[in-house]
Amino acid sequence: MVTAWAPATSANLGSGFDTFGVALDRPGDVVTVERAEETTIEMRGLGSEFIPEDPAKNTAGVVAAELDAPARITIDKGVRPSSGLGSSAASAAAAAVALDDLYDLGLDDETLVRAAAEGEAVVSGDAHADNVAPSILGGFTIVREDGVFSVDTDLALVACLPDRVGSTREARDVVPQETTLDELVHTVGSAATLVAGMYENDPVRVGRGMDERVVTPARAALIDGYDAAREAALDAGATGVTVSGAGPSVLAVCYPGRRRDIAAALTSGFDAEGIDARAFQTRVG
Ligand code: HSE
Repeated sequence: MVTAWAPATSANLGSGFDTFGVALDRPGDVVTVERAEETTIEMRGLGSEFIPEDPAKNTAGVVAAELDAPARITIDKGVRPSSGLGSSAASAAAAAVALDDLYDLGLDDETLVRAAAEGEAVVSGDAHADNVAPSILGGFTIVREDGVFSVDTDLALVACLPDRVGSTREARDVVPQETTLDELVHTVGSAATLVAGMYENDPVRVGRGMDERVVTPARAALIDGYDAAREAALDAGATGVTVSGAGPSVLAVCYPGRRRDIAAALTSGFDAEGIDARAFQTRVG
């Protein structure tokens, strides 16, 4: 029997749609695997009642099929499903790592990321790897079709989860399929600024580099209370605020000493719109 833990993550960071992701230092999913003739799944924990136990419809089940590693899989959810914090990715990532160990497959990080990303496809329709990559590798990750790499940083973050359920499929459907050259130039400038900020562990550069004007506004429009929460967090000292993944969670970057005030600001911003929200102070894990 093998047990693996994989963390929640936040993808996109504004300018890196389907490209950038960060691992959070908590919460996470715990996946236990035992060798079996056929894959079975048992779900426990936060929101587990909403996740199918049919291996063909469960991210971890798809990973087991992808790795040709049938197993009795138990998933203990610490990351709430449909939150924008990489819940399905955490299960897929932990399953990939645990199955690799269980069957002694000796897979490299990139192969594990690709297998876990196939699990993501059953949830969102796309095998995007920007959540599974940081969940497996940790730190800040950059994913392209030809590879993945990670940067170590311990940047301070606040994640805020409103009491609403988000649909990744719906949030992908609203993304514009076209952009202008001006917006492309702006996004490239932001993304480059963000990467420089990650290497320098500089919350101001990272916050500035989150600015993006095509995907993020389309997603933000789906999140009641987003604008109020964002404004409140910026007033409280956040150096950048954006939609976490497909939403509805919101991610703020800041100096470490500002986390408490920003957490309070984010929840009060949602509260002003009549929405309960829970914020947690975290960092890139
Ligand atoms: N990059 C993905 C998206 C992350 O924004 O749709 C969500 O899982």
